Amino acid sequence: MKNIGILSTGHYLPSRVLTNADLEKIVDTTDEWIITRTGIKERRIADKDERCSHLAINAAIEALERGKIDAKDIDLIIVTTITPDSNFPSVACLVQKAIGATNAAAFDISAACSGFLYGLTTAKQFLAGGIYKKVLVIAAEKITDLVDWNDRGTCVLFGDGAGACILGEAEEGHGILSEHLHAQGEFGHLMAVITEMKDPLEQDNDTTKSPVINMQGKELFKVAVNSMAEAIEISMKKAGVSLDQIDCVVPHQANDRIITAVAKKLNIPKDKIFINIHKYGNMSAASIAVALYEAEKQGSIKKGSLVALVTFGAGLVSAANIVRW
Ligand code: ACO
Repeated sequence: MKNIGILSTGHYLPSRVLTNADLEKIVDTTDEWIITRTGIKERRIADKDERCSHLAINAAIEALERGKIDAKDIDLIIVTTITPDSNFPSVACLVQKAIGATNAAAFDISAACSGFLYGLTTAKQFLAGGIYKKVLVIAAEKITDLVDWNDRGTCVLFGDGAGACILGEAEEGHGILSEHLHAQGEFGHLMAVITEMKDPLEQDNDTTKSPVINMQGKELFKVAVNSMAEAIEISMKKAGVSLDQIDCVVPHQANDRIITAVAKKLNIPKDKIFINIHKYGNMSAASIAVALYEAEKQGSIKKGSLVALVTFGAGLVSAANIVRW
């Protein structure tokens, strides 16, 4: 089996910023409540005409440019999203056309906030088995489309964005050392977008109703902490490494208090954990992809660093990877 690693990363964030002060004008909340309960100060909001594919395409272009990789050399595009432009075509096909990846296969994955790590592990199988040489994985979310702007318990948490990476063969000793994917469908009700049932032949001309996020935050919090801690431990065991060897942990950015609780449970010094939730909120699958991009750019991850990626998301799905950069 070949060593498979991340060759290049990219990202894209909408320019519109929604601060906690802006939210104070929309719902009954305060900057102080949001910061102390979540760590979020502001988030990005896509414009009306910026769809998920727009975010994905821009992140992909940056990953190609930074890696000096020709789009025609990409064999497979995987987009991980729970907010595609529409049911079909897939966002991956929209990206394929836009970047001119004419030799690539393309499909989307739905694994909520764990999508990026589900995408990495899926890509690794195609590469390690020698089926493909280069795979583009993009996590892109316009999750604000699913937000109920009357629900102060959820609307303060989310933001839009995209992160991308290109995977291929890595040097000996480098690359993705282990992976762990898990699902606990029994916790699916803790965070769900509920759509109404209707008879397929029934005429319904009301296009104004759009489904929104329903969340049981307190219950989800507890499951999230346990799932993330367990995912890190399992992936470290598979990679044969211990916590003191890890240089940087890049977790899903859902709530700073969840990250702190995981750090406490596993005894991880907080300065080893990369956090950018204060700037972007929870961007679902895109959170960890953008955090990984920024961690490398800011020097928290360097060549040779041992990195733990860990996430949980609606489903409930959790995942972790240990990567030697
Ligand atoms: N502003 C002010 N008050 C608020 C707000 C708000 N934005 N939201 C809730 N409150 C109030 C509640 O009404 C409640 O008031 P009450 O005591 O009078 O009833 C009080 O604050 C406490 O509410 P809780 O829900 O108990 O607050 P908690 O400390 O649990 O924090 C939070 C809520 C931030 C949602 C937390 O539970 C959490 O982060 N849960 C996990 C959420 C998560 O990770 N979601 C995404 C995962 S899946 C994915 O990423 C796709």
